[in-house]
Amino acid sequence: MTKHIFRQHGLVSKMDRQLQAGHKPVILWFTGLSGAGKSTLAHAVEKALFEHGCRTFVIDGDNVRHGLCGDLGFSAKDRQENIRRIGEMSKLFLEAGVITLTAFISPFRSDRNRVRDLVNEGEFIEIYCKADLNVCEQRDVKGLYAKARRGEIAEFTGISSPYEAPLNPELVIDTGAESLENCVAQVINYLQAIGAITV
Ligand code: ADX
Repeated sequence: MTKHIFRQHGLVSKMDRQLQAGHKPVILWFTGLSGAGKSTLAHAVEKALFEHGCRTFVIDGDNVRHGLCGDLGFSAKDRQENIRRIGEMSKLFLEAGVITLTAFISPFRSDRNRVRDLVNEGEFIEIYCKADLNVCEQRDVKGLYAKARRGEIAEFTGISSPYEAPLNPELVIDTGAESLENCVAQVINYLQAIGAITV
């Protein structure tokens, strides 16, 4: 199908963008159960980075599923396609020089690893938002766990669909217990330590 399709190369390189921005572009891939605090942390990290003058954008599961991925459900196949699309989109943002923060449950290792393999080594930073199921269920911000327990939502992650925790994530953040401020600091410190940002 791609036989008659060619690649067009731009005149502005990734390095040109990096030099202008003053930081490296990376993908901060937040993964974890629903209610673990992925979005909250991603948005708080974005705010901190933005205030330091970085180019940033959050791609959030709850928003994307209203638009780009509005045709997808929660079967393993649909989740795979969801993550594939987000992975490709994150790669485009990365090429645009942006620190891209994604907040998706992304429950399957193979799907997350596929995104990792799309980009260069060091550009994909997997951040496991670690919060026990009982903590997430107790929070139940959206009331979805209660519905899932009543059998009103099929294939709900943690209840009737699996979550495969990362085996070797760049960062594990205890979003079940630590303060938001602490969690944000851990991500920022990591980015400083790997030289992605200098602020
Ligand atoms: S993913 O598994 O494909 O990565 P995604 O992060 O986009 O999921 O969407 C998860 C959000 O959709 C949850 O935070 C929750 O609000 C909602 N949701 C609705 N149905 C389900 C379900 N069956 N399993 C998990 N989350 C669901």
